[in-house]
Amino acid sequence: MTDAKQTLDEIASEVSGCTKCLLSASRKKAVPGEGPAHAEMMLIGEGPGFYENQEGRPFVGTSGQYLDELLQKAGVARKDVFITNVVKCRPPGNRDPLPEELAACNSYLERQIEAIDPLIIVTLGRYSMAKFLPNVKISAIHGRPAWIGKRLVIPMFHPAAALHQPSLKASLERDFARLPEWIQDARAHQADHMAAVSAPQAGLEPQKPTASQSPMLFQGGLFADLTPEAQPPEVEEVKKQGDEPTQLSLF
Ligand code: URA
Ligand code: SF4
Repeated sequence: MTDAKQTLDEIASEVSGCTKCLLSASRKKAVPGEGPAHAEMMLIGEGPGFYENQEGRPFVGTSGQYLDELLQKAGVARKDVFITNVVKCRPPGNRDPLPEELAACNSYLERQIEAIDPLIIVTLGRYSMAKFLPNVKISAIHGRPAWIGKRLVIPMFHPAAALHQPSLKASLERDFARLPEWIQDARAHQADHMAAVSAPQAGLEPQKPTASQSPMLFQGGLFADLTPEAQPPEVEEVKKQGDEPTQLSLF
């Protein structure tokens, strides 16, 4: 079996020399991402900014400092999470990434997720969110975690957007303040899942469907099944996606 750390190192070295899209022409340093190979949580942003492009490391500029603060307040050590972006090279002038750039870069992120196999993915901003939850509005679903397969995906506003808009800042801070609760719930849910998977061998009654069989959302801090009548249309979208591997190839 390939070692996750080795796989991540290979991806990082491919990214550093990558010319699969035009962002390679203007970058100084590509930014593959960083963090433990077996991180329980991944944070996925948009793309490198000015300082990230200089240093080759994610979230080291102003929004990075703010992200560090948010993590610290939530009791999460930055060194324990893997941080990366949907595009690994800086879009000139910090413009939005183009669809063809997202598509060209997608396989690196896919492979990182597969190697790390995180329980929790926090998406920062709409491009990262759209990879997992397409056709939804971030204003409608930020701070509403959704199970996608075996991972809890938590959509959040982007720290840079929040720094520019006080109302988003308040929302982002409220969402981050709930992170410890969601982490605990996700761990408990994973433990239940493990128990449910091993129950038939132990001759026990089958358990109710687990996260990997039934996408669910947290609502008011509790897990709730997505029933059609109870859900607004954007949430129904989550249910329709099912639990196929294609979940992670949505561009
Ligand atoms: N903004 C991002 O989305 N990613 C970074 O790495 C830095 C700023
Ligand atoms: Fe390659 Fe991604 Fe950089 Fe484009 S953004 S050159 S696909 S690493």
